[in-house]
Amino acid sequence: MEAKRIAAEQAVAYIEDGMTVGLGTGSTAYWAIKKLGARVQEGLRVKAIATSQESEVLAKELGIEIITFAELSGQLDLTIDGADEVDAAFDLTKGGGGALLREKIVASASKRMIVIVDESKVVERLGAFPLPVEIVPFGWEMTLRQLENLGCKPAVRLQGEERFRTDNGNFIVDCAFGSIADPGKLSVAINGIPGVVENGLFVRMADGVIVGRMDGSVQELKQA
Ligand code: 5RP
Repeated sequence: MEAKRIAAEQAVAYIEDGMTVGLGTGSTAYWAIKKLGARVQEGLRVKAIATSQESEVLAKELGIEIITFAELSGQLDLTIDGADEVDAAFDLTKGGGGALLREKIVASASKRMIVIVDESKVVERLGAFPLPVEIVPFGWEMTLRQLENLGCKPAVRLQGEERFRTDNGNFIVDCAFGSIADPGKLSVAINGIPGVVENGLFVRMADGVIVGRMDGSVQELKQA
């Protein structure tokens, strides 16, 4: 938790007065939103778009102004979000918290994306973490089979006895591919399946990665 907090707080230092900001989702992004809230209390002026209802509620509680895309002219200046895995090319697996669709929309609407992780998330190759894929409920059994045909073991995410529902009312399938050789190619193949809304591979989207370590140090990675 400490490693996540220190990475998050370092990222928030990049937010300047007047910026529009994308707010991530998850236990690392939580610390970024908390820190941003503290800076807003001190007088920083920002407008933000959140990647989940949970993050939006937190941001509002802390006094961060939330806007919609209708109110945004141009792109967001900066998005800060967590990840489940990050490789040396800054490609990511995201969606552990089930917010990957909104996270990808927000990241792609941003001039810059800074990823905040603890050191356990930094990997040589993506794939040990099962890839989350958001799918529509209609025909989900068929969509699952088509995902399986791409070479993974798919499992519909559960929340208790029920199927987990995203903020968009969809299901998440966690796809165990093992090591992913070409994230870009796999992303295109997955999104080509009818019923798939979006997948958790973020390819060439992150501009910076800040890693919090257990020893209390923080490192800003250099892209390979
Ligand atoms: C949510 C995400 C999160 O950023 C990812 O799961 C990492 O979460 P955490 O910061 O809690 O470890 O993609 O959909």
